[in-house]
Amino acid sequence: MKEIKTVGILTSGGDAPGMNACVRAVTRAAIYNGWKVMGIYRGYEGLINGEIKELTTESVSNTIQRGGTLLKTARSQAFMTPEGRKKAYDNVVKFGLDSLIIIGGNGSLAGAQDFANEYDISVIGLPGTIDNDLYGTDSTIGYDTALNTIVECVDKIRDTATSHDRIFFVEVMGRDAGFLAQNSAIASGAEAAIIPEDQTDKDQLEQFISRGFRKSKNSSIVIVSESQKDGGAMHYAERVRKEYPQYDVRVTILGHLQRGGTPSAYDRILASRLGYASIEALKEGQRNVMIGISDNEIVYVPINRAIKMNKPIDKELINILTVLSI
Ligand code: F6P
Repeated sequence: MKEIKTVGILTSGGDAPGMNACVRAVTRAAIYNGWKVMGIYRGYEGLINGEIKELTTESVSNTIQRGGTLLKTARSQAFMTPEGRKKAYDNVVKFGLDSLIIIGGNGSLAGAQDFANEYDISVIGLPGTIDNDLYGTDSTIGYDTALNTIVECVDKIRDTATSHDRIFFVEVMGRDAGFLAQNSAIASGAEAAIIPEDQTDKDQLEQFISRGFRKSKNSSIVIVSESQKDGGAMHYAERVRKEYPQYDVRVTILGHLQRGGTPSAYDRILASRLGYASIEALKEGQRNVMIGISDNEIVYVPINRAIKMNKPIDKELINILTVLSI
């Protein structure tokens, strides 16, 4: 087992609240163990371009509460090419990086896996994305904060929906997964959620309408996952306008405000636990694993499983929303 003296750390893909808390945890835990930490800026782009600087205990002071990522981030096209990864590896050698810790989502961990397949480099993935779509961990860094942000926004929209007797279609992020949509719908008392995991023969809008959505209420909120390729919230609003012209329909697309802001206490603790665990994992000789939390225990998941397996949504959540929204 190669002795570790220096670790590189980067954040990649969409920023997520709690990434800074995670960088802080990795940095401090590594320094505690006598290792050197190199911060790589703008994700894999910085690894390719050599935008790499040492991080000290002080560099991560006063960062646990900050959203975004101080290391900056990017979705690197160059790293998807063998030439880009070759340049990145040259910098791994030049800067003496014995291991790379990658905080990011599916695409970022897929890049880490390709890199580890091609070169003799140990990589550790930490799940950082608001989408919560990585298999093997109950939650990803940023998901809880984004969920709370959505709920706060929907609570506000509810005031207008109620005052005007309107139907609101609120579109939320999540890429191809419906975790944000389904759970924000439950937490905000929405009348329905339209998510990709609920695939039945019956169209989800029809199901909502056939439940008699106007029986006990004059206003409704439907959370629509952005994964809907047919035009999302706009599309569903148009359909209701055509089929039920008597209803006053509005659309809100929450967009990137879901990604920003101060991380929740839950995300800060999750990020701190995962960051700390990444250094412990390296000490144990682990490589090419994503570290997750399952049933409150730290788990090591082979990166290729974390990215390839579909994370299932608990179907009971669909029933819960249906029953509670009557
Ligand atoms: O993966 C996080 C995420 O916010 C997704 O929910 C969304 O589909 C995507 O990133 C948006 O990416 P960008 O900020 O590059 O437009």
